[in-house]
Amino acid sequence: MSLPEISPVGPLLPAAPTTSLLATKYPGAIGAWVAEMALGVSEPIQDALLRETRNGTLGYNDPISIQAGREAVTRRMRDCYGLDAAPEAVGFVSDVVSGFAAVLRHFLSPGEAVVVPTPAYSPFLTVPRQFGHPVIEVPGSYGPTGHRMDLDGIDQALATGGRLVVLCNPHNPTGRSFTTDELTALAEVVEAHGARVFSDEIHAPLALTSRHHVPYACIGDAAAHHSITATSASKAWNTAGLKCAQLIFTSTTDVTRWQTVADFYVRSVSRLGVAALVAAYEEEAADEWLAKTLVRLRHNNNKVAEAVARTMPGIGYVPAESTYLAWLDCTALGVGTPAAYFRERARVAMCEGTEFAGQGYVRLNFALPEDVLDQALTAMARVVREVMSQ
Ligand SMILES: Cc1ncc(COP(=O)(O)O)c(C=O)c1O
Repeated sequence: MSLPEISPVGPLLPAAPTTSLLATKYPGAIGAWVAEMALGVSEPIQDALLRETRNGTLGYNDPISIQAGREAVTRRMRDCYGLDAAPEAVGFVSDVVSGFAAVLRHFLSPGEAVVVPTPAYSPFLTVPRQFGHPVIEVPGSYGPTGHRMDLDGIDQALATGGRLVVLCNPHNPTGRSFTTDELTALAEVVEAHGARVFSDEIHAPLALTSRHHVPYACIGDAAAHHSITATSASKAWNTAGLKCAQLIFTSTTDVTRWQTVADFYVRSVSRLGVAALVAAYEEEAADEWLAKTLVRLRHNNNKVAEAVARTMPGIGYVPAESTYLAWLDCTALGVGTPAAYFRERARVAMCEGTEFAGQGYVRLNFALPEDVLDQALTAMARVVREVMSQ
């Protein structure tokens, strides 16, 4: 199975739902903040959920459905990304953030420090601290070709006691897909310190260029041995509320360790989430839906890039290579909290860069129907012109 090819944009997908978190948190503003899509859910997933409901199987997960889920993940990872993981190496958790907390708890010693390259998805900065692990932030650089991790900085952070590096690939918030060379260089640094990597690859299916996702664990034996991969169908198939994510263990020692606690974590996985996962990974129509959604996302990404370049002087945007998140450099606006500013003046609700340790930036979610995105970009352009002409 290969990733869908880039093709012309198709018909409009369904209108934005009005009762989602994305739409409702900031009344009166266009919701373009939290990472969920206002582009509907595929029919195979709707059917799977209806089937469970009609069968009256809304109880606990049973071993057969969990095993079907494990096998679906194994096949998907192998066929799409060349990642070999036996079904027993697939651990179920309710969501990726809970999986991250589980890794901190079971694979680090109390008080060991976590290295977080920034900007970073905010739970990577907050959860370790909540669990008693200091965080060593390592700011990356952001230039004309986008975000780069600072490998020397990571090296130093590991030298001063960091034991686990958090890799987010594809990267939230910048949309970077790290290259094999970048991942190999990271693996060398981590291995030299005998440290570990938590590799969050939840955005892997959302590739906006023709470049395929490369799992960190596929870089080589050392990377496979020292990393734990987190994934979920929930970003690409838009099912975050169904609570079903996976940790993939590529070291036999880790598989054994996980098996001592796995039962506890399976309890928090929703049965509907497992049904949706199997539908997403196994049904052809779910892949077709993803392909169509990717066409829309590529189109929207280009639209954002074009609108920023043409109508928002001073704002910087290097188009995302994956995800549906645009990381906009708003430092030239000279307002301390640009997302709050846009929310008030343009009525567009985005995430504040500071949430990600990225002062002066905003994160725009462009997984919106085209007319809604147009409205948001027009309103933002008006505000930028006002500020820049003062
Ligand atoms: C990189 C990344 N990891 C994890 C998550 C959250 O996933 P989950 O809902 O499975 O915890 C998000 C959500 O935006 C994300 O962007």
